[in-house]
Amino acid sequence: MKNVVLIGFMGTGKTAIGKRLARLLGWEFIDTDAEIERLTGKSVARIFAEDGEVRFRSEENLLCRKLTQRERLVIATGGGMVLNPENVALLKQNGVLIKLYADPEVIIGRVKAKKERRPLLKGNLEERVRELLAAREEAYSIADFAVDTGKQDPDSSAALIYDYLKERNLLDGDVSG
Ligand code: S3P
Repeated sequence: MKNVVLIGFMGTGKTAIGKRLARLLGWEFIDTDAEIERLTGKSVARIFAEDGEVRFRSEENLLCRKLTQRERLVIATGGGMVLNPENVALLKQNGVLIKLYADPEVIIGRVKAKKERRPLLKGNLEERVRELLAAREEAYSIADFAVDTGKQDPDSSAALIYDYLKERNLLDGDVSG
């Protein structure tokens, strides 16, 4: 196993927990949304508005291909990354997939503040979250391990994942510190 990949719905804490987990492992942290923004020079919201979702999904796929050539990465994926089965196959090739989840109420509370950054949540926020969560339940179920991030703070969630990786000997003795 070479990378740790965090998957899950918007607002489940992938970025916050990924950063902490990377620190625990002494590995590099990559947030796919931030990386796409850096590579394209545009915000995710602008890509959706100016070029459409198809362009964003193609950027995600391209990045996914690049990242699977690398190792010792903690990758926080955008919530839609695993909707493409090719991405799932690539990420699984050399990574362990960890699903982060939380109750809809927790997610709604978290995404409210930065709603404009998430183009898929336009309109009635509560309805959109519930609708998308139901549609994606299966896509997120492919993970090797799952953490309810509504139950504890990001540090504790990161520690839970770290313990899981250690217990299962998934780190090849590569942990620093
Ligand atoms: C998306 C989630 C977002 C971002 C884009 C699409 C999705 O990432 O990639 O707005 O389809 O769920 P976060 O999960 O980091 O919010």
